[in-house]
Order: sequence, then C-alpha cells, then structure tokens
Amino acid sequence: MAGSLLIELDRVEKTYVQAGVDTRVLRGVSLAVGRGEFVALQGPSGSGKSTLLHILGLLERPTAGRYLLSGEDVSGFADDRLSELRNRHFGFVFQSFYLIPYASALENVLLPGLYGPESRRSLEHRAQELLARVGLADRASFKPSQLSGGQQQRVAIARALINQPAVIFADEPTGQLDSATSAEIMQLLADICTQGASIVMVTHDEETAAFAQRRIRILDGRILDNGGPGPAEG
Ligand SMILES: Nc1ncnc2c1ncn2[C@@H]1O[C@H](COP(=O)(O)OP(=O)(O)OP(=O)(O)O)[C@@H](O)[C@H]1O
Ligand SMILES: [Mg+2]
Repeated sequence: MAGSLLIELDRVEKTYVQAGVDTRVLRGVSLAVGRGEFVALQGPSGSGKSTLLHILGLLERPTAGRYLLSGEDVSGFADDRLSELRNRHFGFVFQSFYLIPYASALENVLLPGLYGPESRRSLEHRAQELLARVGLADRASFKPSQLSGGQQQRVAIARALINQPAVIFADEPTGQLDSATSAEIMQLLADICTQGASIVMVTHDEETAAFAQRRIRILDGRILDNGGPGPAEG
C-alpha cells in the first residue's frame, strides 16, 4: 500500500459566516495525500492552513467540494460516522498539547483508545510501550504539569499513535518549543513516518518544514505550490 492515495480533496471551498459576513477561507483546494508521505503546509498567518488541516482531519466539513478517503466519498457522512473514521484512522498533535491536566501521562496516551473495542489492560500495555518509544518510559505516572514542554508534546504524540493511525495531523507541533527540542520532536515524527504513517503538518518554520518530504504552500486560501505530483516515491 506504500505510496497509494489516501486522502483526496476535490475543489474544496470553506466559507465562514461571522456576524453576517462571509469569509472565503479556502477557494477551490484540490490536493492529494499519499500513504507514508510527510507533508508540510506552509503559508502566511490567516492563509487558511489550520482550516485546511481541520478539513483534511475530518474535524470540519467543507462548504463545497468532495473529500475522498481511500477513494470513498465521505463528504455526506453523518457526524458520528465521521468521528468514527477520525478516531480509527487519524491522530492529532497541536501546538498547545491539549493534555488532560489531572490525568497521568499513561492515562492521557490511552484515552483515545477507550472508544474502541480494546480492553483497558491491553491499552495500558500499549500506552506504556508508546511512552517508551517516545523516550518517556519512566514518566508514565507523571501529570502534564510535572513534565517539560518537549515531554508533554511527546506524550501528545504517543496519544496520537494509540489507535495506530494511517495519518497524523500536526498543527505547529513545535510552536511552543525551543529549537533543540523542536528538532527532537521533528526527528520523532520523521521516524514515525518511516514506519508507515502519513504526516500532515502545518508550520511557519523553515527548519521544521525541512523534515518533510513535500511542502505545500498556501496563500489566501489557494494552493500556490502543491510540492509535487502527490504520493512520494519509494
Ligand atoms: N470558526 C471561524 N469562524 C470565522 N472565521 C474563521 C474561523 N476559523 C478561521 N476563520 C478565519 O479563516 C482565516 C484563516 O484562518 P486559519 O486559522 O486557517 O489560518 P492559518 O493559516 O492557520 O493562520 P495562523 O498561521 O495564524 O495559524 C482567518 O481569516 C480566520 O479569521
Ligand atoms: Mg493556524
């Protein structure tokens, strides 16, 4: 399946209506993301990057246009089916880690698994393995406030992996981290990509974007440069 088409947007539009005024945020975006690709979305503030990421991640619906997941048009699916697809196939990492403050690192990691069929015990086991994978084997019982920013983002990445997603969406994942810690987090994402997941990441930062194989540039809700033909070779 490596290199095959995973997500395809066809002439997607997104318009927000706020205080009676229409804002066209995405204007005819067509875009494909292949399996195993590491894609960076770049563009100025307000250009529509986060909106596009939310649409790609099935967190928001397009106003018009089609969304194909492995070739199937899911645009008309009801909300509960979309959240099921999202939970099964996607993981999310955000700039401000969004960990649950009163839960331990281990509990934060296993939480998205609780909606699936897996037993708590088996989830705990895998959450512990994932914490080891992100270098936090000895921090499982720590609360977010007892962890550094880089460690909190590692917990968030482990959480994004709990359901073995096909795609990880990351919005400015290193936006709150210093440059050395950012490089560590990016290396971790690059390793995860090598092991088969696709990664779609929004970033302002050129050094961060350099970890991606493909860069998509957005301006005023349009794709300026889609960074290549689609699925990466190899
Ligand atoms: N829920 C919303 N309601 C109304 N307008 C919105 C909403 N979400 C985003 N917008 C508008 O859409 C435009 C694009 O926002 P978006 O968050 O996608 O930009 P961005 O490229 O991610 O910017 P940044 O780099 O600053 O994060 C902005 O003008 C914003 O005001
Ligand atoms: Mg944004």
